Amino acid sequence: MARPALGRLIAFGNQKGGVGKTTTTINVAAALARKGRSVCLVDVDNNRGLTRTFSVPEEAFRSTFDIFTGEAEASECIIKAEFQTLLNGTEAVVHLPERFAIIPASRSLESLDQVIAQRPSIRPEKNFARALADLRSSFDYVFVDTAPNLTTPTVIAYNTVPWFILTARPGKTAMDSLSDAVQDLLQVKQFGAEGRLLGVVLTEVDVRTRLSKDIVQFVDEEFRATLENKKTVKLGFQNHISKTIAIEEAPYAAQTIFDYRANSRACAEYEALAEEIETRLKNFESLFGMTRGQADEQKRAANE
Ligand SMILES: Nc1ncnc2c1ncn2[C@@H]1O[C@H](COP(=O)(O)OP(=O)(O)O)[C@@H](O)[C@H]1O
Ligand SMILES: [Mg+2]
Repeated sequence: MARPALGRLIAFGNQKGGVGKTTTTINVAAALARKGRSVCLVDVDNNRGLTRTFSVPEEAFRSTFDIFTGEAEASECIIKAEFQTLLNGTEAVVHLPERFAIIPASRSLESLDQVIAQRPSIRPEKNFARALADLRSSFDYVFVDTAPNLTTPTVIAYNTVPWFILTARPGKTAMDSLSDAVQDLLQVKQFGAEGRLLGVVLTEVDVRTRLSKDIVQFVDEEFRATLENKKTVKLGFQNHISKTIAIEEAPYAAQTIFDYRANSRACAEYEALAEEIETRLKNFESLFGMTRGQADEQKRAANE
């Protein structure tokens, strides 16, 4: 099995809550872990969707707050294998999948702006960038689950990672929220961010419905990247995730869909999507890498 280049950093985002960011982040990561890749999921959302999915007890672990403030190194915040917690009111042991680690968020993330204002010597961007650099040397993938608005942790995450994936679900406001997300990404880019849109994942899709057909068509038409060789590629991923009850139930067991319901059709869908994401990363890295190299070549030639 060919291994991916070490340390692919991807942020999952959308400027709207409840569009499947956290669920997609978790289950794509689980699919990659089953393929033999090691994945670390990092929660920078003050709503703590990822952290709450696994019922991580807040007081027991260091979190992204400690990373931003420089009080902890990434390695001190990683949760792996299993831990004790209260699950739906009962003492329980949560088992994380193999090769699947998380760094939780804590409620203190909400006060990060105030903490920084009081202690201007804190360099949250630098601290976070160092943490991601550490993580990229020990994991094949690092996925950052972001907040649905431009909070400081989310802006910093967007500024630090090379790739974004947007997630969307069918619905009345889906198209607006996707456009808003792209606008926000562009705004962050004006601050010098490097990131590129890797693709758009559609989830909770039911192809029989009008709303699902509309969003698939919208993404197909609106989300394209023009490469420097003028070739256009569609950014919507071909593999969608269906609306599935088991996906909604899995967090109550603090499990990924693979551990909760191995025979769910969603497992095959997440596996296909994970495969598509890996393939696209490989293609985009070489396409963009190549075109960027050519541009440098031209600049050099022009300067001579
Ligand atoms: N494919 C799906 N089928 C059914 N429910 C889903 C699916 N994807 C996500 N959900 C549910 O939608 C809700 C919002 O998803 P979540 O991943 O928390 O969104 P976000 O992180 O964008 O706020 C959750 O209750 C989740 O279980
Ligand atoms: Mg979330």
